[in-house]
Amino acid sequence: MKYVEDRLYAEQLLNEAEILNPGPWVQHSKNVAKAAEYIALDLLKAGYEIDPNIAYTSGLLHDIGRYIGFTPSVIHALDGYLFMINKGFEGTANVCITHEIAITDLELINGWTEIPLHVQKQLSALQNQIEWTIYDKLIRVCDALADDKGFSTIEKRIVSAAIRNGVNSNSPISWKYYFIIKQEIESIIQKSIYRCLPNIEESIYTDMALIGRK
Ligand SMILES: [Fe+2]
Repeated sequence: MKYVEDRLYAEQLLNEAEILNPGPWVQHSKNVAKAAEYIALDLLKAGYEIDPNIAYTSGLLHDIGRYIGFTPSVIHALDGYLFMINKGFEGTANVCITHEIAITDLELINGWTEIPLHVQKQLSALQNQIEWTIYDKLIRVCDALADDKGFSTIEKRIVSAAIRNGVNSNSPISWKYYFIIKQEIESIIQKSIYRCLPNIEESIYTDMALIGRK
């Protein structure tokens, strides 16, 4: 599976997307990339087969579908997938889907009913087709470990997203998956993933985003 490996190319794609749709999502993406690289380095140290460089570029590009501008719910996941698949990077494209679509019953996704039927069908087909790799899992959890200000606890990110985007009675199902992946990675690196993230404690002191989309 092909992933973007050239960091400069990934940064260029993000810069171009920022021109089209500036917002906190860009800095968030940079921080997700850093978190993913840090954790990947520890996975590598523990003997796990992973490329920290791919972890970084996957983090940088996971929200690239936001280049289009604001779209409701998880539509940016499909836009990102199509953007990256058109450039020939299936692995990176998959991350654009899997960072948002981690539960089996897609109707439980917050805002699912706001998504046009043809997009729902495409997302559903892709969800059935994609086989998750370590990069999908890593970016799924790192998406919840970094905001635009820096690294964050997962709990703080969840509450911020809940305030900004709302929740439904099924939201805890997708929240649970963050902690399942976290524990899976921690069982490999034999320490808390927060130990991989420098100055994570600063997240106690920074305000959480209360308005707008991530
Ligand atoms: Fe994200």
